[in-house]
Amino acid sequence: MTNSTPKIRIEHLIKIYGEKPRTALKLFREGGTRDSILQATGQVLGIADVSVTVNKGELFVVMGLSGSGKSTLVRCINRLINPTSGNIYLDEEDIAHVDEQRMREIRLSKVSMVFQRFGLLPHKTVAENVEYGLKMRGIDKAKRRQKSLSTLEVVGLSQWADYLPSSLSGGMQQRVGLARALATDAEILLMDEPFSALDPLIRRDMQDELLRLQKQLHKTIVFISHDIHEALKIGDHIGVMKDGYIVQIGTPEELITQPADDYIRAFIQDINRAQVLTASSIVRQTTPLVLSQDSTEGALAQMVDNNLQHLYVIDQYGKPVGILNKPTLKAAVQQQSDDITNLMQTDFPKVKASTCLENMFHLYQQGLPVAVVDEEGKFAGIVEHSDVLASIGKY
Ligand SMILES: Nc1ncnc2c1ncn2[C@@H]1O[C@H](COP(=O)(O)OP(=O)(O)O)[C@@H](O)[C@H]1O
Ligand SMILES: [Mg+2]
Repeated sequence: MTNSTPKIRIEHLIKIYGEKPRTALKLFREGGTRDSILQATGQVLGIADVSVTVNKGELFVVMGLSGSGKSTLVRCINRLINPTSGNIYLDEEDIAHVDEQRMREIRLSKVSMVFQRFGLLPHKTVAENVEYGLKMRGIDKAKRRQKSLSTLEVVGLSQWADYLPSSLSGGMQQRVGLARALATDAEILLMDEPFSALDPLIRRDMQDELLRLQKQLHKTIVFISHDIHEALKIGDHIGVMKDGYIVQIGTPEELITQPADDYIRAFIQDINRAQVLTASSIVRQTTPLVLSQDSTEGALAQMVDNNLQHLYVIDQYGKPVGILNKPTLKAAVQQQSDDITNLMQTDFPKVKASTCLENMFHLYQQGLPVAVVDEEGKFAGIVEHSDVLASIGKY
C-alpha cells in the first residue's frame, strides 16, 4: 500500500567520480555531457542532476542499462558513496549532509541494503548471517537469535537456520540476504539487482516472494534492475536512467502508454501490454442507474445520449447489482414500469480495477461490457471488449 508521504526525497543529486569534481561540476553546470566532461577532465559523471521522490510503502524500481548510474544512485541513499552535490532527505533529514557517526546510526536502523551477490559471510550459519545487523546494533544474543529465527520464518527458511550458506541454493541464499535486511526492521530497503544472479525461474519466484512480503510489510523499497520485465512486474513506479540522468518516471502503465522518448520505446517494444495494463487504465466512466432512486425514463435517455447498449444498475452503496439492455428498458418505459429489480440481469461480468487485461478476454462471452469495481466493490465504470482490443493494439 502506498500513500503520499515522501520517505526518500532526492533533489538535484550529482555525483562525479574522480579527483577534480569541482572542475567537472562547473563544466556540467555549463551544459557539459558525460562524454565531454570525461574528455576535458578525466572525471566520470555518475549521476547527472537527479530528482526523485519515493513515497512511504512504495516499491520504486530504478531501471536502466549497465553503466547508466543505478548503483551510484542507490549507494548515495545510504552514503556508501558520497554525493558531489544535492540533497537526499530520508524522512526530511538531509543525509547528504550528516556526519559519519549519524550515518552509521541510520545504516543500522533505518536503511538496509540487499546486494546482488548476497554478501553472506561463508563461515557463519544462516541464522548468524541474519543476526549480523542486530549484532552491530549491540542487541543481545538471545534477542538476536529470536529475531533471526522469526525473520527466517517469514522468508520460509527456518529449518535452515544452523546450516552454512554454501548448503543452500542461490535462490535460498538470496532469501537469507533478504532476511538479513528485514531483521533490522529498517523501513527502507535498498536492493541492487538482487535477483540478477539467479536462474530465470527462481528469479520469478523471488519476485513473487518479494511482492508477497511487501504486501505484509509495507517497506519503502528502492529496487534496481536492468530488466524491463522485472521492473514492470514489481514496480509501483519506475525511474528509467540513461547516462546518469532519469529519462522518465512513471507507473508501469504510464511507461507503456506514454513513453517519453525513443529510448523508453525501445525498452517496451516487446512487452506484452495485456500483462501490464489493467482495467483501471482503460475504464470508461459511465453513470449507472441507482436502484429505487433513478427513473427508467431518465436511464433510457442517458443510454440514448451516450449511445450505450447496456446500463449498469447499482445499489444504494454504489455496488453494481445488475445490468439492463436497451430493449428491456425501452419496454419498461413504455409500460411505465419502475420494477428494475425484475428487469435487470443479475449475472454479469465484473472485475477489480487492478485486474490485468490478459485476465479479461474470457469475460466477453456474454457480449456484455465488464463492470469495473474499486477495492471496496463500488462501481467505477465499464470496459468494453473493443476497449481491451484497442488498448493492446489489436483492433
Ligand atoms: N568508483 C568509480 N570510479 C569511477 N567511475 C565509476 C565508479 N563507479 C562507477 N563509475 C562509473 O559511473 C557510471 C555509472 O556506474 P553505475 O552506477 O555502477 O551504473 P549501473 O549500476 O547502472 O551499471 C559508469 O560509467 C561507471 O563506469
Ligand atoms: Mg549496478
